[in-house]
Amino acid sequence: MSIILGIDVGGSGIKGAPVELETGEFTSDRFRIPTPKKSTPKNVAKVIAQIIDHFAGELGDAPVGLTIPAPVKHGVIPFIANLHKSWAGMEAKKFFQDELGRDVTLVNDADAAGLAEVHFGAAKGHPGLVILTTLGTGIGSAMIYRGVLIPNAELGHLELDGYDAEKRAASSVKDNEGLSYKDWAIRLQRYYSHVEMLFSPDLFVVGGGVSKDSDEFLHHLDLRTPIVPATMRNRAGIVGAALASRDALENPDPLDPVVNPQANTPVA
Ligand code: BGC
Repeated sequence: MSIILGIDVGGSGIKGAPVELETGEFTSDRFRIPTPKKSTPKNVAKVIAQIIDHFAGELGDAPVGLTIPAPVKHGVIPFIANLHKSWAGMEAKKFFQDELGRDVTLVNDADAAGLAEVHFGAAKGHPGLVILTTLGTGIGSAMIYRGVLIPNAELGHLELDGYDAEKRAASSVKDNEGLSYKDWAIRLQRYYSHVEMLFSPDLFVVGGGVSKDSDEFLHHLDLRTPIVPATMRNRAGIVGAALASRDALENPDPLDPVVNPQANTPVA
């Protein structure tokens, strides 16, 4: 399978493109539809169906990789911070497969971005522990050690000074509070020093829309760990979704109840 449709579900837009997996390039232009104001699973599924239709001529019934801005544990979403609350607790993989009538892989949005950066971007082929953070509406994170993703690291929800970290240091907070880059960098310093102390990574990659302005804030940070901007920019989620889909096809998750109906049977 060398071309997979990647779809990135974000707070403001849902974007998709067919991805050539050898190169990480799109084989057609990206197609974007705004996220419905009421971002329930049903409403989001309707938009995803439109994106799939848009590429159907090119892709037939090829599998689809989908990012979600929440952890995804064996196809289930345990909690959600920045989309409609009705996503929490749902069997999302089963839901989307039923709604869309095709094989779907779900992956956390930051995990997807991390996979894309390690395969094709700022951390390409890195031999150590890479922590990618996405700075946007919230803070997403991916931990990848020697090319293997440790999924669902929710480092945006570390508690810092009594706050959920993303409520202090996400780029949406910078915008909402009208902080200068320098003042925002004080919060980023606090955040990244803490993550550095906990995990001793070899490389930080900073993604999210604001990473294109990394010249404005990265030089204010004083860390022992190298910290670099992501290079895949707004392609990262889509490319990572496609990579995750290929991984899931090659190595089906034995703990996913869609793949293995016995998954929740306790081991005797
Ligand atoms: C969610 C993460 C997500 C991040 C970026 C956080 O609030 O809990 O799962 O990766 O936002 O969208």
